[in-house]
Amino acid sequence: MKSNEQTLTTRLVQLGVGRDERTGAISFPIYPSATYRHPGVGESTGFDYTRSGNPTRQLLEEALATLEGGARGLAFSSGMAALTTLFLHFAAGDHLVVSEDLYGGTYRVLDQVFGKLGLTATYVDTTDAAAVAGAVTGKTKALLVETPGNPLLGVADLELLSRLCREKELLLVVDNTFLTPVLQRPLELGADVVVHSATKYLGGHSDLCAGALVTRTAELGERFYFLQNSTGAILPPQDSWLLVRSLKTLALRMERHSSNALQVAQWLQRQPQVSAVYYPGLPEHPGHELSQRQARGFGGMLSFRVATPELARRVLKKLQLISFAESLGGVESLMTLPAVQTHGDIPAEERARLGICESLLRLSVGIESVEDIIADLEQALA
Ligand SMILES: Cc1ncc(COP(=O)(O)O)c(C=O)c1O
Repeated sequence: MKSNEQTLTTRLVQLGVGRDERTGAISFPIYPSATYRHPGVGESTGFDYTRSGNPTRQLLEEALATLEGGARGLAFSSGMAALTTLFLHFAAGDHLVVSEDLYGGTYRVLDQVFGKLGLTATYVDTTDAAAVAGAVTGKTKALLVETPGNPLLGVADLELLSRLCREKELLLVVDNTFLTPVLQRPLELGADVVVHSATKYLGGHSDLCAGALVTRTAELGERFYFLQNSTGAILPPQDSWLLVRSLKTLALRMERHSSNALQVAQWLQRQPQVSAVYYPGLPEHPGHELSQRQARGFGGMLSFRVATPELARRVLKKLQLISFAESLGGVESLMTLPAVQTHGDIPAEERARLGICESLLRLSVGIESVEDIIADLEQALA
């Protein structure tokens, strides 16, 4: 492990320790108070009203900023609330360039909510910088990249894209849900904003719905804070506490997710019923070398293709240990059929073009013993 990873690991474990000076609490308390007494007119303890600021959420938001290496972190009630707040930054007539290998809900909110308000988007293969450059128009304000992509795990070159964005004066926004700051720090590679569905690895236990935005500059942070406070999709104090608690083990979990996923991917490659495995940790993956350069690990997400849609459905039916469920990033292994679930809102012809068909399965490899995960896959594929 490199020394900066050790620092991050230690910081995560120590979140909030001793911050409550009066009691010396190791676990920072939950402040449920919706409002706060003012010492006098024009005076404040720093907290007035919980939508505008809450001590437990503040600990979390400062932690998110530190972990991503940003100036400001903001915590939201879901990943979609964080993305919605991000999109509210733009105006009617603005245009975004967005990864085509994208979470279906992000596509849905852009297409069916913001599209109606006049914010347009073009979806491109963001692993291809020339395609990104070709999609930029005079109205383009930002590039939104998911890397690795969802569900095909394509890897975009963040340094290259950040140079392009600087040249064209675009904001570079990276959805870092799949790798987390433990494995990838987009702001260090030139991004302006990082987005998370904290429901996934940051929360890590499939028991919390949360989202985050982290900005490189304080100015952009202030703008997003204004939008967060104005529209109100904040993360409540109880959930903020739970997310801080979860972050403490993030480094340990990501290490295990990654090592389990690599072993599962290698095993899947050897199965005759499996025609393709998509995992950046495999040397054959087109983004393997780039991942090695820009990330500290390959993460716990992989997809694989089986011979027929019928076999994919049979596998999902036969799973015993692995749950057939939406979502990802929990300690428990989960499998989905992206064409029907997570990417169901993407038009069928677009899904077909991308290769998101009904024989493609996505696996969020949990932290169970890898032998047990493989044994379940073996009986389900038989
Ligand atoms: C990569 C990615 N971004 C954003 C989201 C949306 O987050 P949430 O479900 O927490 O609203 C998801 C959800 O699956 C996701 O996978």
